[in-house]
Order: sequence, then C-alpha cells, then structure tokens
Amino acid sequence: MGFEVVNSIPTSDVDYYSDEFILDPYPFYKELRDFAPAVWLSLYDAWFISRYDDVTAGLQNPEVFCSGKGVTLNPAVNEGMGGNMVMQDAPEHTSMRKVFMKPLLPQGLKDVRDQIKITADAHIDQVVKRKSFDAVKDLSLFLPMNIVTNLIGIDEEGKENMLAWAAGVFDAFGHPDTERTKAGMLDVKALMDYVQQKVSRDMLVKGGWGDHVFKAADEGEITHEQATFMMFDYMIPSLDTTINATSNAVWFFSENPEQWNLLRKNPSLIPNAINEILRMEAPIRSFTRCLAKDFEIEGIRLKEGSFAFLSYASASMDERKFENPEKFDISRKNASEHVGFGMGPHSCPGSNLARLEIRSLLESLLARVERFECGTPVRVPHNTLRGIKSLPVTVH
Ligand code: HEM
Repeated sequence: MGFEVVNSIPTSDVDYYSDEFILDPYPFYKELRDFAPAVWLSLYDAWFISRYDDVTAGLQNPEVFCSGKGVTLNPAVNEGMGGNMVMQDAPEHTSMRKVFMKPLLPQGLKDVRDQIKITADAHIDQVVKRKSFDAVKDLSLFLPMNIVTNLIGIDEEGKENMLAWAAGVFDAFGHPDTERTKAGMLDVKALMDYVQQKVSRDMLVKGGWGDHVFKAADEGEITHEQATFMMFDYMIPSLDTTINATSNAVWFFSENPEQWNLLRKNPSLIPNAINEILRMEAPIRSFTRCLAKDFEIEGIRLKEGSFAFLSYASASMDERKFENPEKFDISRKNASEHVGFGMGPHSCPGSNLARLEIRSLLESLLARVERFECGTPVRVPHNTLRGIKSLPVTVH
C-alpha cells in the first residue's frame, strides 16, 4: 500500500473494500487523514474525504456535493434505486422528506414511545434471566425487527426477508467490481421485486407509516412512485444501523466497566452515551457524493463529475476535532457533534427513533445488569456497514 503525490494529486492505492481495511479500519482512516484532506483512491477512481471539517462541510453543501446522481460508486444501484430519498436533491428531496419525517418527529413518536419502552423492558427481562446470550441475535435485533416493521405495516414475507435484503442492499452500495457488491445486487433485485409487486396500499396496515405515505401521495404532496420508494427508505436504513449501534453499546460497556458504573449512577448521561457509541463506531462507514462543480480543498482540485466518499466513521474519530478520540467517554463534552447520523439536508431522519430504541434497551439493562462480560465480537466484512454478526455476552 502506498501514499504518494502524483501530478499534485494526493493518491493512494489503499483498498477501501478489502477485508483488511473493513475489519480494522481505524489505522487506515488515520493514515488517510494525516496524508491529505482529500485523497484520490486509485483502485476505485474516487476521492476519499476523511477529516471532520471537510466531511461536515461537504455534507452541508449539497450544491457541490450532490446526492441526485447517487450516493454509491455502483451505477446499477444509483440508477435502479435512484428514486430513493437518499439519492435525491432539492426540490424533490425536500417534499419527500417532509412526508417521511412526520411520524419520526418527537411529536409523531409520542404515540409509540410507551409501546417501545414496554416491549423493550419485557424483552430485556427475559434475555437477562438467561445470563449468557448473544448480544446481536438475542438483544439488538429484537426492537428494530419487531417495532419498525410493524409500524410501517408490512406483511410476514417482508418481515422475514427484510434483514437479509437490507444488508445485501448496503453491500451493493460498494464498487461494482467487488464480489460483495455483486452478491448484494441479488438482494437489491429481490427487495425491489417485493416492494414493486407486493407492497400495495391494500397490504399496508391502516394508520401505519406506509399508509400515511400513500395518503400524502393521494393528496398530491408526493407522487405515488415516490411513495413506493419511500417504503425502502423506512425499511433498509432502520435495521442493521440500530442493531449495530446497540451491539456496540454492549461491547463498549463490557470493555469499559467504569463507564457502565458511571451510567448506573447517573442515567441522565444516556443521551450522551448514545452519542459517544455512535461517534466511536459509525454504523454506516460512508456514502459518496458526486461533485456538481469543481471544488477545492486546501489547494487540491476535485473535478466536476467525480465521486467522493464522505467518511462518517473517520470524521467522528478525527483527533483534530475530538481529543483522545479512541477513549470511550460517555461524559465527553462534544460527543453530540459526531457524524454517525450524517449532517445537513440528508442527516438521518430516523435518529429520534433509533435513539428511542437504544435508550429503551439501555434503561432496561441499567435496571438489571451490574456488569457485562463479552467474548470476542465477530465482525462481518461489509461494504457500507460496520457489521457485527455475533457478540457472546454474560451479564452479572
Ligand atoms: C443508529 C441508527 C442509524 C444510523 C447510524 C443512521 C445513519 C444514517 C446516516 C449516516 C445517514 C446520512 C445519509 C447521507 O448523508 O446521505 C442516514 C440517512 C437516512 N436514514 Fe438513518 N441511520 C440510523 C437509523 C435510521 C432509522 C431507524 C431510519 C428509519 C426509520 C433511518 C432512515 C434513514 C433515511 C431514509 C435516510 C436518508 C435521508 C435523506 O436522504 O434525507 N435511519 N442515516
């Protein structure tokens, strides 16, 4: 692997999609950050933007860093899934997002808050009684799989397949030449077939989020085609992201028992602890943007039409922004400034729901667990997600 300046362009042949990078990414991010604010990845013909200030500036500058030409390096995904909200620019993006956000705003979530808390508590009660279990399968999966799919109002077939499809879709967000991307394309097809052939408003539970989106289409706020695509937007990004964040929470508290003790003494730190978990391990590694015009970062010229990775994971670990970034510190003053939920017009509209789910689980665990003892987490190499497949844990 090398880093060199070629014709004034900071260039590297580091392989962003290799198992080696994906499984232990943080030393690579640091090298990229220290080398230059934008590095041309020669294997993938795309820029890599890794420092906090540049990533957040890019996310907040959609006129230059646009999403409308896709947020992946895979043209088949950018085209086939181009109707999704995440791949839109204003004004289409603005009208879709307004409809999408409605049930996810604090006011909209008021109705489900208690249901989520009660469900989480009953589940944690059962799981903790077993003493030893898998934090991913037995603990983290439960809420996203049972709450979100019910709120959207989809059928059993959808529920059963959603997790595999969603993970596959995020793999397909990689570079088209990698094997993981090719395998993921099969899930993209299966999911699109399901949504386009089976997801009709008759199937959606009345009063659910899906139903609400189709009603907005009837009223002309969005098109019916946009409404269909928005079913993906509720489903795909809501599962693995939240599952990974919850599993990481268990892992961090197992590795840092003094931080769990601190949280037990002071549960008002929960919101900041969630920020710190998302800062330390961004569940989504990066999305890309396409340059709508030439742009310069510290004298490095990024040409119109080129693609650039904006790395949430690297930005949130940038020592230029976060002091001692590798320390897990739930009292960290600026933890809330992490980029785990993105930033700017595409920042995560599901963040309130994700926070509510993680918070409910943590509260139930705080009431029952003095200490976590984890085995080794099994990480799965994944193109877009910081995947965790299994995490054996014993609770005391
Ligand atoms: C811990 C959990 C989650 C994490 C870490 C996460 C992360 C992110 C990130 C980084 C983005 C920015 C995308 C961009 O910059 O282009 C994003 C956008 C998005 N997320 Fe989340 N997300 C989570 C949970 C959820 C949930 C629960 C939902 C749905 C209910 C959801 C739906 C979306 C959608 C639809 C977008 C695209 C928004 C737009 O383009 O305006 N996410 N998420």
